[in-house]
Amino acid sequence: MNRPIAHLAGVGSFAPSRVMRNEEFAALGLDTNDEWIVQRTGIRERHVAGPGETNKTMSAAAARVAMSRAGITPGDIDVIVLGTASPDRLLPSTAVDLQAELGASRAAAFDVMAACSSWLYGLIVAEGLMAAGGAQTALVVGTEKLTSIVDWQDRSTCVLFGDGAGAAVLKRSDGSKGILSTFMRSDGTLAELLYRPSGGAAHPFNQQVLDDRSFYVKMEGREVFKHAVRSMSEATDRALDGARLTGADIDLMIPHQANIRIIEATAKHANVSMDKVYVNVDRYGNTSSASIGLALDEAMASGRVKPGSTVLLVAFGAGFTWASLIVRF
Ligand SMILES: CC(C)(COP(=O)(O)OP(=O)(O)OC[C@H]1O[C@@H](n2cnc3c(N)ncnc32)[C@H](O)[C@@H]1OP(=O)(O)O)[C@@H](O)C(=O)NCCC(=O)NCCS
Repeated sequence: MNRPIAHLAGVGSFAPSRVMRNEEFAALGLDTNDEWIVQRTGIRERHVAGPGETNKTMSAAAARVAMSRAGITPGDIDVIVLGTASPDRLLPSTAVDLQAELGASRAAAFDVMAACSSWLYGLIVAEGLMAAGGAQTALVVGTEKLTSIVDWQDRSTCVLFGDGAGAAVLKRSDGSKGILSTFMRSDGTLAELLYRPSGGAAHPFNQQVLDDRSFYVKMEGREVFKHAVRSMSEATDRALDGARLTGADIDLMIPHQANIRIIEATAKHANVSMDKVYVNVDRYGNTSSASIGLALDEAMASGRVKPGSTVLLVAFGAGFTWASLIVRF
């Protein structure tokens, strides 16, 4: 297809007001400390949803900001694509809850489940629908309440994750700006390195599942780390090739915010210096499908993304899934 077809007309995000610092884990009885977490991950604090906050409320807050910046109303939206690994309910999708909340009555709404790559997958799916003529205006949201699916007794996972939402409105491009290239891949043979063993249809909830806590996120951290660096490096190469650009052409790289060491290794591979890499993992932890939208919104608000900027987005997540996208603003 001839690109650009779609551009990001408005971006918004939301994070719960409750901030939890690394020092607070000790009070929960976990044998961990700020120094360990900062050294291994770069994370200092994360936002934690309060009792009244759900993916519906967080995604709606992010979406309203994105819609207002794009100059659209809910009735203008043709499709809502929502990425999440922590849906509010298992049935129906969180996207339809968001649709109802916004009153986007003309929209088709569905979830994509590609873990931390979901927001980029969602943008790519929405762009494809627009290319096929099925939509003129799309709302793409990544939202997570990960603090509800991590095991607060497992120090190797619970310190890593946080809550929030990011959103973008895609509109038709006039040809001067928008998505220049995309790439997406998966490898399901590695699914059990990062997953929730039980609670779905294969192993439905029962007393044993509750007792052995197998409905919470389980992860082989070291293995995930290696694959994350390898896959995000491949994804940056493919997006740059697709847009016929090199790392030197990139004004800002916004990687999925999982771990500062993964981010640094990916940037080095792409030949993008760290002063051109947006980092907020220290303040949010890993917010999975919300992470890149949250970071992009901050980068735009702080003037690091301006009209004409060329931005490389790259993600990796459970599945495994990985994806990348180059967009000109
Ligand atoms: C999770 C991660 C930070 C662990 O760092 P690591 O250097 O690989 O550490 P290891 O898993 O080898 O564990 C080293 C030790 O620290 C301990 N440890 C784990 N979590 C700890 C914590 N929060 N505080 C203190 N010690 C901890 C382990 O029990 C282990 O102890 P042992 O040597 O006595 O067995 C790292 O592997 C990582 O970031 N992986 C990628 C995770 C990720 O980003 N996932 C999402 C992808 S989208």
